[in-house]
Amino acid sequence: MGMLGAERIFNVLDTDERTENKGTHKPAQIQGDIQFKNVWFAYNDENWVLKDISFHVKPGETLALVGATGAGKSSTINILNRFYEINKGQVLLDGIDIRDYELNYLRATIATVLQDVFLFSDSIANNINLNNPKISREAIIKAAEDVGALDFINRLPGAFDYDVMERGATLSAGQAQLISFIRALVYNPQILV
Ligand SMILES: Nc1ncnc2c1ncn2[C@@H]1O[C@H](COP(=O)(O)OP(=O)(O)OP(=O)(O)O)[C@@H](O)[C@H]1O
Ligand SMILES: [Mg+2]
Repeated sequence: MGMLGAERIFNVLDTDERTENKGTHKPAQIQGDIQFKNVWFAYNDENWVLKDISFHVKPGETLALVGATGAGKSSTINILNRFYEINKGQVLLDGIDIRDYELNYLRATIATVLQDVFLFSDSIANNINLNNPKISREAIIKAAEDVGALDFINRLPGAFDYDVMERGATLSAGQAQLISFIRALVYNPQILV
């Protein structure tokens, strides 16, 4: 098991960074205007997952993408975060191509709550603020209240100091996802996915 684990770690270390990280745009403020313009995307060759997708979400608006399993919802999120590059078309944030933004800046601007939540073997509070001392306990409690998770957390032994096990084995899937929502909210993101 250890050897296999080590091999996987070395594979990650040996990976060439494929996402071009040449963008430098880092505006002081983001409005949150997102536009997909005739986006085509495939993970492999021309096996199109997204075909000519266009939509425009204006600041303050909420967009729901609903579709069958495998329709391409998660792929759309992956593209917005530049975990994958599109093949054709353009993705704009506040009217500027997302490739022109500094990659870390872009990802810090967009808080993403995914289907598969990763929890560290640490307290609930540390799982929420990710050990960032700038995020106060008050902010954590406020965000927990906003997502309706305060009751269940307060019922755990030690409340916010309760130690969750890796992968959230001691929390239900829904509870783990609530922690992930709070984690996103305390960073007060301009864009929440
Ligand atoms: N890493 C990947 N490599 C290759 N193909 C992938 C990869 N991830 C997803 N796909 C394929 O892309 C298509 C879209 O998948 P995607 O995960 O975007 O769907 P989804 O709409 O999020 O589905 P679900 O509702 O099940 O979460 C599927 O056909 C899937 O098999
Ligand atoms: Mg999905």
